[in-house]
Amino acid sequence: MDTRRSLLLVLPLAFSGCTSDPATEASEDYDLVTDVQGLMLTVLEPAAETYWDAVGAILDSTGVDEFQPETEEEWEQVRHAAYVIAESGNLLMMRGRALDRGAWMAFSRDLVEIGREAIAAAEAMDAEAVFTAGGEVYLVCSACHASYALQTLRPNDDRTDPVEVEGVEDAAEAEGPDGSGS
Ligand code: HEC
Repeated sequence: MDTRRSLLLVLPLAFSGCTSDPATEASEDYDLVTDVQGLMLTVLEPAAETYWDAVGAILDSTGVDEFQPETEEEWEQVRHAAYVIAESGNLLMMRGRALDRGAWMAFSRDLVEIGREAIAAAEAMDAEAVFTAGGEVYLVCSACHASYALQTLRPNDDRTDPVEVEGVEDAAEAEGPDGSGS
């Protein structure tokens, strides 16, 4: 954190002869309200939960109960969540949040790209596509966490939460977004 800040301050001085990097200057154009952790907890995670919870199946002693958005309003919520997921990729790329200009940016761009698929699925009101896109979103979360936040390798995904499953052991794995439970 500190190292990165001081680099940002020092670099423009060291290369003061060069035209300044517009990306560096952009940090004066905005005013971050929260850090990466705050963004995860208050913006990205809640949106992802909404998206993941929209379509799925609950396994209990009476069988499999599949659910999906029914009303226009419910579909709107899924669509809004997808937009938050997609734009969060851009929020993560902002200076002050990006931990580097390499893999971090690639994971963040992946989130934008998969987020677009998530939006398309929601706008098509295609429950199966929402389920698939949700699994892909999850893979992007996990991939970035594997590199930058090992303590958060698995963000909460209610479909893998055994608490929701009554009377069936190990059912959570079968309900994993990508079917592998990984
Ligand atoms: C570009 C990288 C990146 C992507 C993509 C990413 N995260 Fe994170 N996430 C992080 C980092 C880094 C942390 C650790 C933040 C910290 O503690 O300072 C984190 C932490 C978290 C936390 C734990 C916060 C806490 O302290 O309890 C949650 C929850 C989380 N992410 C959810 C998600 C979800 C859900 C997604 C996908 C929709 C996602 N993240 C995608 C980088 C990423």
